[in-house]
Amino acid sequence: MGKCIGVLTAGGDSPGLNAAIRAIGKGALNAYDMRVIGFRDGFRGLMENRTVLLEGEILSGILTLGGTILGTSRDKPHKMPIGSKMQDMTEVMIDNYHRHNLEALICIGGGGTQKNAYRMAQAGMNVVTLPKTIDNDVAMTDITFGFDTALSIATEAIDRLHSTAHSHHRIIVVEIMGHNSGWLGLGAGLASGADVILIPEIPYDVKQVADAIRRRRHRGKNFSIVAISEGALSQEDAKELAQLQELKQAAKDEKKQKKIITALDAFRVNHTSNTLRLSSQLEALTGLESRVTILGHVQRGGTPSAADRILATRLGTACVAAIDDRQFGCMVAVKGESTELVQLAEVVGKRKVVPLDHPWVRAALETGACLGNQLGV
Ligand code: F6P
Repeated sequence: MGKCIGVLTAGGDSPGLNAAIRAIGKGALNAYDMRVIGFRDGFRGLMENRTVLLEGEILSGILTLGGTILGTSRDKPHKMPIGSKMQDMTEVMIDNYHRHNLEALICIGGGGTQKNAYRMAQAGMNVVTLPKTIDNDVAMTDITFGFDTALSIATEAIDRLHSTAHSHHRIIVVEIMGHNSGWLGLGAGLASGADVILIPEIPYDVKQVADAIRRRRHRGKNFSIVAISEGALSQEDAKELAQLQELKQAAKDEKKQKKIITALDAFRVNHTSNTLRLSSQLEALTGLESRVTILGHVQRGGTPSAADRILATRLGTACVAAIDDRQFGCMVAVKGESTELVQLAEVVGKRKVVPLDHPWVRAALETGACLGNQLGV
């Protein structure tokens, strides 16, 4: 038997993770005679040396399964909660990596995982990553797996909300995942014909949203669907957040920084009920009854779409090929119909957000959706 590689899944789960694990396990064995071990629950499993050999039966029947057979966590190697303290456990992980005599470690995750994997690479491990997240916001890749499935789930949910909103002459405000990027909100809003689509990249003016709903009413449509990303903010709130972020950048000493971090945390807590607030504001401004639906983790659960299964399988096999070729410190990115290796240094610290001139934004505006401000109206 040849070399041994390790794999872990970290961050929020995403449909297609098991398809990727299967492709890595089967691809490594069939094409390169390599052995694969999985670490459980993300970087925590690497630290605690909790492993599972990925071969035979364990890889069978998982292509269609949601979640991850390895388990996941949001634990960071350099900030592990150990008892009541945060500790840097990088060294312990490096020891475990060597204990298994690993040729390389594959880290599958979103933006946070890419950053943590980069830290591991800098600490001396051979690392290759795969981009997954339903948010589709990892930089330097056209798409991440999990997004297509979540898009279909959110779209179907909004389709269903349409008929009940129509029957009751109500506004339904539907919250879609995406704290920092609006790919899922915009995509699902566009695919389901939502009347209003609010995303983090375009701070909204609640009066303009209400006007759009009133205009529909004058045209005889006395119901409206408002699709809002969980991270979308009003113009006033976006300004406040930008100011806090600027202050954080400028804060020189630790005491000042801590104060601003506390203010930022308070801001986030205050905004967890943003969607509910928007719904009541719209009721008051339009006189229509409004209801809220938060799609939440339903969007991340269950069986992956065919497109995500194919994508995760392609990425998984490309990843093993990269390791065989001794290409390390990189992410396997999607570029058109093909894949390419991008240095992790190019990926970390960036986020792929929706550009305002993106064709989806234009298509939404030209088909009459309100995006919450004057953009192109
Ligand atoms: O990272 C993807 C994501 O689904 C975000 O859209 C969402 O804000 C977040 O995860 C929720 O994470 P958790 O499951 O840890 O609450």
